[in-house]
Amino acid sequence: MNESLKKTIQKKTDDIETILDRFLPEEVGYQKTVISAMNYTMKAGGKRIRPMLMDETYRLFGGENREKIEPFMAAIEMIHTYSLIHDDLPALDNDDYRRGRKTAHVVYGEAMAILAGDSLLTYAFETASKAFCGTQEDIRTARAFQILASKPGIYGMIGGQTADVEAEHREISLEELLYIHKNKTSALIECAMMIGAVLAGASEEELKVVETVAEKTGLAFQIQDDILDRTSTREVLGKPVGSDEKNEKNTYVSMKGMEQAKQDVVRYTREAIAAFDSLGRENAFLRKLLLYLSGRTN
Ligand code: IPE
Ligand code: IPE
Ligand code: MG
Ligand code: MG
Ligand code: MG
Repeated sequence: MNESLKKTIQKKTDDIETILDRFLPEEVGYQKTVISAMNYTMKAGGKRIRPMLMDETYRLFGGENREKIEPFMAAIEMIHTYSLIHDDLPALDNDDYRRGRKTAHVVYGEAMAILAGDSLLTYAFETASKAFCGTQEDIRTARAFQILASKPGIYGMIGGQTADVEAEHREISLEELLYIHKNKTSALIECAMMIGAVLAGASEEELKVVETVAEKTGLAFQIQDDILDRTSTREVLGKPVGSDEKNEKNTYVSMKGMEQAKQDVVRYTREAIAAFDSLGRENAFLRKLLLYLSGRTN
């Protein structure tokens, strides 16, 4: 990656950290243990790709009101972080490291990790509701709220996680694998980019294209995740490698082989970029970000 893109990504990540900090709850009261567990994983870092994609899609469609977009940026990262805390639980992937730290259930115990996930999911909606302002613009905010409610759910991320768990220790079809990837991973990326588009006033037609851009980006992102689970290190990823093999998961790599997986990351990224370009709108950084994600190393 070239140095100037690296610097821009770092600067935008730092800005997102500041936004997230503003929306995180204070660790006080009888409930402070669960709040500490929420903040522990939220503050551990992470690439912050979903809020970044949301914000850049908002800019792509001319969005300028920070008070609208920032609560939703924090909300999507809360929902993503909850999905990670629960994904790592002993009943799911049973992993001990996340974002370079011991996972929430290792530090706080399983009960608190389950509750921290629950809390991040509900607090995400409490946070996003701060974007309502009592004007005509609330029509867009309500549509964004509806996307925030549906994409992480049974017809989105949870659907994918369910099929992922049920696909362990047995053979599955490529169709099932694509359902898993599109839902467990693409759905939250679609959620992020579609909310950015809706809040900025994109048309329903444009929204469909944004959904396609995000779906293809998510597929490339998850295939790359499956590749890195085999080829990277815990130090670089901040999470264990070999997790998929340990759990006898069906992954893109186990089903189609490493070479085909690498080629398909490139193919899905190309398809994402082609859809992005068909929008005929300018956000040079977002275009580069979509391209960079396919070659990511962590
Ligand atoms: C991890 O997501 C889960 C997947 C969908 C592959 P990220 O790779 O975005 O994790 P963080 O947020 O950077 O930790
Ligand atoms: C999980 O996919 C995607 C989520 C919804 C959290 P993985 O199980 O492959 O994600 P990692 O590798 O643990 O981050
Ligand atoms: Mg998993
Ligand atoms: Mg996992
Ligand atoms: Mg993985």
